[in-house]
Amino acid sequence: MSITKDQIRKIEQFVESKLDSLNWQHTLQVRGLALKLAQSEKADKEIVEAAALFHDVGKYQKEKGHAERSAGLARKYLEKENYPVNFVEEVVYCVICHDYPWDNKPELVNTIEAKVLYDADLISWLSNFGIIKQILYIQEQLSVDFPKALDEIIKKIDQESRKAFTKSGKEEVQKRVREIKNFYRTVL
Ligand SMILES: [Fe+2]
Ligand SMILES: [Fe+2]
Repeated sequence: MSITKDQIRKIEQFVESKLDSLNWQHTLQVRGLALKLAQSEKADKEIVEAAALFHDVGKYQKEKGHAERSAGLARKYLEKENYPVNFVEEVVYCVICHDYPWDNKPELVNTIEAKVLYDADLISWLSNFGIIKQILYIQEQLSVDFPKALDEIIKKIDQESRKAFTKSGKEEVQKRVREIKNFYRTVL
């Protein structure tokens, strides 16, 4: 299908109205990264862009399960706006997959668009912007035991970075992992 600029703008307005500034900026960054990956991985850019915009919209609530919540909101929005059924299903699938649902089963992430969104979100988490998010996330542990908290975040970076799906995603992730580890090593 071909989405118009107005349709994209309307989705942007809807998502921005639901999110705080931190999550909205993250969403914009993921959209940019996902479109770049979509280009090199030959994924459908319209599905990827819509999915990237919706992927964290469920974070308007703090409770767990934001991926499913985001997918539900995306479905409701896209169906109400009369998007084609296939498009809705593809977007919703990408959004559900972006947070490894189904008990951590990566083999269930099957479309190139879902893989691209997953990798873009991961690259965002490893970016300088992501460092700010990581620090916010572990701020309590940092107050209790600063070196241990940093050590744990480096371990988590190693674990998560292995989950990239696409060739271009993996390359970018490896580059970012080196840089981010160097950064954390300079802190202590
Ligand atoms: Fe997410
Ligand atoms: Fe995200």
